[in-house]
Amino acid sequence: MYLPKRFRTLRSSAAIRGLVAEHTLLTTDFIAPVFVVEGTKVREPISAMPGYYRFSLDTVLQEIEELYTVGIRAVLLFVKCADSLKDNKGAEALNKDGLMQRSIKTIKNAYPNLCVMTDVALDPFSIYGHDGIVQNGEIINDATVEVLAAMSVSHAEAGADFVAPSDMMDGRVAAIRKALEQDGFTQTGIMSYSAKYASCLYGPFRSALDSAPGFGDKKTYQMNYANSKEAMAETLTDIDEGADIVMVKPGLWYLDVVKELREKIHTPISVYQVSGEYTMIKAAATNGWLNEDEAILESLTACKRAGASLIATYFAKKAAQLLKNIYE
Ligand code: PBG
Repeated sequence: MYLPKRFRTLRSSAAIRGLVAEHTLLTTDFIAPVFVVEGTKVREPISAMPGYYRFSLDTVLQEIEELYTVGIRAVLLFVKCADSLKDNKGAEALNKDGLMQRSIKTIKNAYPNLCVMTDVALDPFSIYGHDGIVQNGEIINDATVEVLAAMSVSHAEAGADFVAPSDMMDGRVAAIRKALEQDGFTQTGIMSYSAKYASCLYGPFRSALDSAPGFGDKKTYQMNYANSKEAMAETLTDIDEGADIVMVKPGLWYLDVVKELREKIHTPISVYQVSGEYTMIKAAATNGWLNEDEAILESLTACKRAGASLIATYFAKKAAQLLKNIYE
């Protein structure tokens, strides 16, 4: 058979596939989410997230050492706040000696070259498990934004490199930027969760932090998964308000949004492969239905193919190890 063009030529060996690959995963693309709890010597398995742990401030340094050794250079911190410290206004989120602030200091002190990013939202500190202040059964925007701005300054003071508002209140990026500038934190970055959808895929994370909403759901502030035009508008607004990096979350079910944004904007796009995506792969792999390593690399590469520059993933360490084996 004479064929003028055979597509299989460029697929015929690992060497040629590597040469013509359009997208390549790098360990430096990854952000590792890290869960911190009070106590000492804690390395608590999270039952809803098999293979993932909550760490106290001493053990977290061992974990970060492991991440650092495989080449990870960014972490995204979340804290599990004690019930006794929760209220409606997130007062504990502003505590200079709060768990988040101590975590930032401890980690930055030990690893000054690590990019430390912090989650900014009220849910871990809220008696209602909502991302904002609750008044008459509603999550109120403007008063919440004030707390988020103060919280961001407090994280910057403790040494955070980036704050990552995940709350989906309107106007928070502008308020955070203004507060950071006013207090002299001109080098603190904002990674805004711009297109954050109201998703069932956050379930395992909420059980990890004991932060599930006590009433209702998050649909009055997180985006409707039926929409993508809205994601364009909201992301462009966040960029105007001063976001350095924008985020689409969850990842795999929303890669059309990433792709559309990539064609429209020049700001780095981050994708969050969220807890439910992690557990889906874990569950299938544990049952022998999927090969875990292959599922990790394929799903993360799909995020890059869609246009992500950086990826927050619970598989960060594992993926970095896999990449080491491939390239070294
Ligand atoms: C807090 C926050 C959530 C996630 C990141 N930051 C939960 C939520 O919005 O309910 C989810 C992350 C994940 O599922 O991995 N606002």
